[in-house]
Formats: sequence, structure tokens, C-alpha cells
Amino acid sequence: MLVVLQRTKDEVSLQAAQMIAGAIRRNPSVRLGLATGDTMIGVYRELVRMHRTERLDFSRVVTFNLDEYLGIPPSHPQSFHSFMQQHLFSQVNIPRTSIHIPDGTIAHDYDAYCEKYEQAIRDAGGIDLQLLGIGRNGHIGFNEPMSSLGSRTRMKELSAETIEDNRRAFGPGEEMPQCAITVGIGTILETRRVVLLATGDSKAEAIAKSIEGPVSASVTASALQLHRDVTFIVDEEAGSKLAQKAYYDHVLKMTRALMPERLS
Ligand code: GLP
Repeated sequence: MLVVLQRTKDEVSLQAAQMIAGAIRRNPSVRLGLATGDTMIGVYRELVRMHRTERLDFSRVVTFNLDEYLGIPPSHPQSFHSFMQQHLFSQVNIPRTSIHIPDGTIAHDYDAYCEKYEQAIRDAGGIDLQLLGIGRNGHIGFNEPMSSLGSRTRMKELSAETIEDNRRAFGPGEEMPQCAITVGIGTILETRRVVLLATGDSKAEAIAKSIEGPVSASVTASALQLHRDVTFIVDEEAGSKLAQKAYYDHVLKMTRALMPERLS
């Protein structure tokens, strides 16, 4: 596990974008697992900049998003489809057919639909690099506390805390979705590389528990301790409750000197 402590949110975005761009340059057909949320906006902005000014080519990239609210159409302004369209897909040269996002409009046969999403990931050859944010309660994707650590893509009920956090994006009086389709913790653990980003002090507790706490379904990001190649990139505020900061800096220094490819 690599913990990269950055000073600012912009530095977090830049480091993550560099790792994604590196993955695309090394393998133009790379399969990316993508995330939504405010934390990702700066990352996608930087990737769009690289596409425009450094000819970063998305024409063979394949993407799978983590999750989508249940009960709202892709065209809804707060859907994760709209988020991805606005911040990345409409601004880079990725073919429509290479983009996969769970469908929030399905109304029955959730299990069959979710199994097809899992199959599409397998058919594509699995996810090479999975980008993750984290909820205040330590969720990744929409794997709320007490999700099975072996869970696969499925319909998931949102917790009161997540509904509260995400409500601000919806208009006053507008109904906030109560459920989502999300890939599972087991699905995420099968990806080849994970990069999790966190910024701001509201994430400090979740980050400390995920990295230094016990592996537990009550903080689903802690399951990443079982992953063979995970990098946490956090700003000062999100990293403020970590106990082993000096050691993480030492590991980072050694990694930069001996295995720089892990950060590019
Ligand atoms: C949602 C998404 C998560 C994301 C989280 C944090 O719950 N399902 O994937 O990590 O929000 O979002 P933000 O970056 O806005 O704090």
C-alpha cells in the first residue's frame, strides 16, 4: 500500500491524472474504472487538458463507472451519466461504445442486469486501473457500511449519511434517490490497480480508518488493505488523522527512487 500525502487538492488531482495518463500511454487500450464526485472534477479537468495540449489519446480506452443512482434517467442533471458526460466524455475522443455506466432506469431483474455488468467487465479483460473516491462513512462506490466485503455489482440501499451528503446536489424539494446500482467490494478487489483520492477534513476519519484501522465491513474502503496494488492520494486535511505519516513519506521517497513507475 502506498500513501501519497499531498499539500493541496490540486496536487491530489494532478498526481492522479498523471497516473491515469501514464496508464493510457503504456497501454492505449487500458480498461479504466471511473468514479464520480467533487473529488474527481480536478482529475478529469487535467485529463481533458492533457488530451487537448499533449494529445493524450482516449480512442482505444474502455471505461466502466462504479455506480449510478437508481430511478433517474441518464439525462437527469444529477445522474452520474451526466456528470461523466460533462466533466470527461464530451471533451475527449472516447467512442460512445467504449463507455459503460450502470443503468439507473432498470426497474426489475436487478440481479440479472448486475450480472451482465460484471460479465461485460470480464469480457473486456478486467479493469486495469480503478479510480476511487471515498464517502464520509468510508464507502467506495456505493458500498455502504456493512456491505459484504465479497459483494459484486448489485442494487444497494443508500445510508442516511450518504443521502444527506448527496442531497445538496439535488434541487430543493426534489426527491433524492434512495438506492443505487454499484459494483461490489469483491469486484473492486479484482481490479489490477486502485488509486483512491480524498480531500478535505470531512474525509479525515474515513481515511485514517481505511488505512490504519482493522479490515471491517463497517468501513468498506478498509477492504483495500487486501488489495495487492493500492495507492491512496490525500491532501493535508484528509490525511490529518493518520498516525504513520513519517513512515508513508519515507516509503514514498524510496518508491520514487527505486520504482518510479508506481507513481506514473
Ligand atoms: C458518492 C459516490 C462515491 C464518491 C463519494 C464522494 O457517494 N458514489 O463514489 O466517492 O460520493 O464524493 P465527493 O468526492 O463529492 O466527496
